Formats: sequence, C-alpha cells, structure tokens
Amino acid sequence: MTITASPAWAAIDAHRKTFAQTRLRDLFASDAQRVGSLSLSFDDIFYDFSKQRLTRETLGLLAALAKEAKLAKQTERMFAGERINASEGRSVLHVALRRSAGPFPSSQFDVMPEVTETKQRMAEFAERLRAGKCLGHKGAAIRNVVNIGIGGSDLGPKMMAYALRSVSHPALAVHYVSNLDGAQLAPLLQTLDPRTTLFIVVSKTFTTQETMLNANTAREWLRANLGEALVVENHFAAVSSKPEKAVEFGVPRGLVFPIWDWVGGRYSLWSAVGLALMIAIGAQAFDEMLRGAERMDEHFRTTPFERNLPVIMALIGIWNTNFLGASTNAVLPYNESLKYFPSFLQQLEMESNGKSVSLGGEAMDCATSPIVWGELGNNGQHAFFQLLHQGGRLVPCDFIAAVRSDYPLPGHQEALLANCFAQSAALAFGRTESEVRLSMEKEAISPQEIARLLPHRVFAGNQPSSTLLLASINPGTLGSLIALYEHKVFVQGVIWGINSFDQWGVELGKAVANRILPAFHDPDLAGVLDASTQGLLSYCRKHIS
Ligand code: F6P
Repeated sequence: MTITASPAWAAIDAHRKTFAQTRLRDLFASDAQRVGSLSLSFDDIFYDFSKQRLTRETLGLLAALAKEAKLAKQTERMFAGERINASEGRSVLHVALRRSAGPFPSSQFDVMPEVTETKQRMAEFAERLRAGKCLGHKGAAIRNVVNIGIGGSDLGPKMMAYALRSVSHPALAVHYVSNLDGAQLAPLLQTLDPRTTLFIVVSKTFTTQETMLNANTAREWLRANLGEALVVENHFAAVSSKPEKAVEFGVPRGLVFPIWDWVGGRYSLWSAVGLALMIAIGAQAFDEMLRGAERMDEHFRTTPFERNLPVIMALIGIWNTNFLGASTNAVLPYNESLKYFPSFLQQLEMESNGKSVSLGGEAMDCATSPIVWGELGNNGQHAFFQLLHQGGRLVPCDFIAAVRSDYPLPGHQEALLANCFAQSAALAFGRTESEVRLSMEKEAISPQEIARLLPHRVFAGNQPSSTLLLASINPGTLGSLIALYEHKVFVQGVIWGINSFDQWGVELGKAVANRILPAFHDPDLAGVLDASTQGLLSYCRKHIS
C-alpha cells in the first residue's frame, strides 16, 4: 500500500478540508497558548512553528502518518548500518562520523576505528599547518589553502567556514573552488603565492570533471611557478574514497584522507571532506561541531515524535507540500554568517528527496521535495519579498536568525532581528482592507485616493513560516542545526517511501556533456547531437577564442 492510500493520509486530508477557510489570524485569536504549544527548544535552538497553518491536532494526525510509515523502525535501520541506500547497496552512516564513543553501528560491523584514526590524522595535519609547520617546496610555511571540490565536497565546508569566520585562524586564508569556469580559479591564483599554497582535492569518486580539471590546472600552475616536477608532494592533499587515484595524481599517500561509501557526498561535512574547515577553525572547534550534531542525533533517535525537532520540521514540510499544495520552500537566514546555508540546503534537500520513483521503483503518486531556494533575508526584503507578500503564491518560509551577533556593531543586531520578526508577522497576519482604510484616513488622504490605492496596499497574509532562533553562531549549535535538517530530510524520505541517499538524476547530464565536449572542435561529431545543441555549438565555434 502506498502512503497516500493509508488511513492516516486520508485522515489528514479530511482534516485539511476543515482548514480551507481558517486563517492564521483566527488561529492566533482562538488560542492564547498557541506559541507555547507550537514551539520547541533544543539546547541553544528555539523553533517557533506557531505561524504554520496547523494546530496540535494537525500535528497529531501527521505523527500518525509517520508511525504508518514505520519511521521509528526505519530510523533504527539507518543507525544499525543496514543498507537502506538500496539502489546503491550501501549503508548510510554519516551519524558514525560524529559519534564520540564506539563501537558503532555494531561490534560486528564497527566503523569507528577507521573514523577515529582518520580524525586523528586530520587533527594532526590541521594543527601542524595552523602552527606554520607545514612547509611548501621552497621551505616557506603554507598560509593559503584551496579546497577544490564541488557539490557535497564543497558546499558544506564552505558554508560552515563562512559561518565561523569569527573563530577562524587569523593568518590563514582558506578558499573554495568548485566551478568549471576559469573565472573562479584564475583570479584566485593571481592573488596566491605558490610557495605558500596548499590545494586539497576533495572528491569522493576522484573522477568528477569539475574537480579534476581545476586540480590539473592548479598542478600546472604550481609547476609553472615553482619549476619542479616533485612540487605536487608539498602542495597537495586529497580526500577520497579512491585513495589510489589520488596517489596516482601525485598526492603523497600520507596526505590522502579516506571517506567511505557509506557517507553520501551531501552528508560528508563531518568526514575528512571537512579538512579545509578544520584547518580554518581548528580541531577543537571541529570537534565541538561534531558534538552538536551528535546531540541532535540522540535527540532525534530517542525523543517522542511530538517533541522531536527533526520529526516536527519534516511533518510540517509534508503538510505544506502534500496537503496545502506548496511547491516551494524559502530559506531565509538573517545572519550574514549563514549566507551559504540556502545553497547547502538546496543540495541536501533536493538531491536527497527530488525523486518521483519509490524505493520499490513505482511511480510516486504525490509530490516529494519542494523547490528549496533562499537568500539572506534582509537582502531579500529589498528584492523578492514583494512576491511573498502580495504575489498570491503559497511560499512557506524558514526564517533563521542568531540572537547574538558574532560581529557586534551598535544598534545592528536588534534592527536585524526586528526586521526578521516583522517579516514573518507581516506574512502571517497581513493587512486587511479596513486596516488600510483606517490608516489612510488617519493620514487625511481623500476618499477618492483611498479607493484608488486601497487594493494595492492590502496584504492577504496567511503565508506560513517557521522561525529558528539560535542563541549564537558557534560550531556546536551549527552542528546541531545541520544535523536537524539532515534528519528532517530523512524523515520526509521515509514518509514518501523514496531513497534519500542516491542521486541518479545527476548522471544523464554528465554523460551528455561528455558527448558534447569533443564536438566543440570536431563538427562531424556534432551530427549525432540534437538540433538545438548543434545550433548552440555552431554559435560557439564562431565566437570561441
Ligand atoms: O554530481 C553530483 C555529485 O555526485 C554529488 O552528489 C556530490 O556531492 C558531487 O557530485 C561531488 O562528487 P565527488 O565528491 O565524487 O567529486
């Protein structure tokens, strides 16, 4: 039976019908306890979901759906190391990367010895580098680190590194290069001193086109500038599940750090994929991040659904997507430090749950991942928020803010938070015709003018949102935050009955690009391509230098 055919699904759908006319204004007016009963705290995180279009009853019905999907059992299967990534025949054990005590997941299949050993090697290398004891080929201390990777081998560490700039090593510059476009790597190289630069090639497969091309270009740049064949040895480290390929590239074996097939790329921040981040923030702060994630893992595994943050967050998403019909979810961080959080979440959510086939291979009969997008909220206010307020579309929003600033300037933080809270309130409660009329009358605007402007100044409201408040931006709280979203994604995947841990949808484009590439310089090869691609190529041939 598919989940949509279950009695639990039908019960939620029946409940939804009673909700058609209910507005957030009414829900707040009729329940003085609403915020208390529709919010949760966990460590330094406060989650207010009172501005979602639901009640406790809705959440109870959604929790029954999670039970119907056997969420508790599926969670245990993940933590037990079962091969829940069925289409790739793999376990899903990123939670092992933040375990503080082993064995895990079991004494028969214990991954902790290699996890611990890798973490120790990373810490030893990162601390040596931070102390100026890693020397380049000409004897100068490494002071610039360039992480070359893409997708999960870039987004998580880059997002965290930016978020934790205030606790990063002041004399080290850590850069992230992902794009095939030379416009990212070339200007960066112009600013770097090859004698003091280390490249970390991060690729689980060590075959990703973007990463390998950027790594080759970096190697050529070093050779051209330092003029030595052996130069790679002092200026490259690598992270991969294919260590032999990294060694073949020229990375010394001692500087190849492993990851394993049981860590998905978008879940790999906690592994050696986070090496550049560890270099920036230090081994201790990296460990605090892992501890924050581990606390969230325990909370997720042991807390009843009604008080379980990732479960509640996931259920709210299911309600908005499958019952209210939202096709999108806006992620709106207010702190500058969380600038890259929306891009990180886009991969986490859409690569995990952007599927239309069930685990068993049947076509899905309900929507799965919404389109996740977002931007720093304060900037967005002056750009796309107009549509959120008056565009007439249902766009559930996640507002995220830290109460304390990591860069305090007088007056800034309160103003920032006031804007964050104002936006979610305005979206939820809007402004009615009579309120607009009253305020215009107070301004002594003529009745004709009021009639003309009134429709433009009404805000429908009823736009659902949640607000996640962090006490501050720090490694532990951010670790919990990321793990929260990871588990949310897992819960939704379980309810939809899809595999959240494969990503076959990215393969076709890679194969097609490999067919197109040689046709740039050989028009005969273009003949087999579609007409549109042929047209694009022929325009390029005229203009490419
Ligand atoms: O193409 C998608 C993808 O496979 C992601 O899932 C992954 O995070 C990224 O590419 C990078 O892959 P790799 O680490 O193997 O270079």
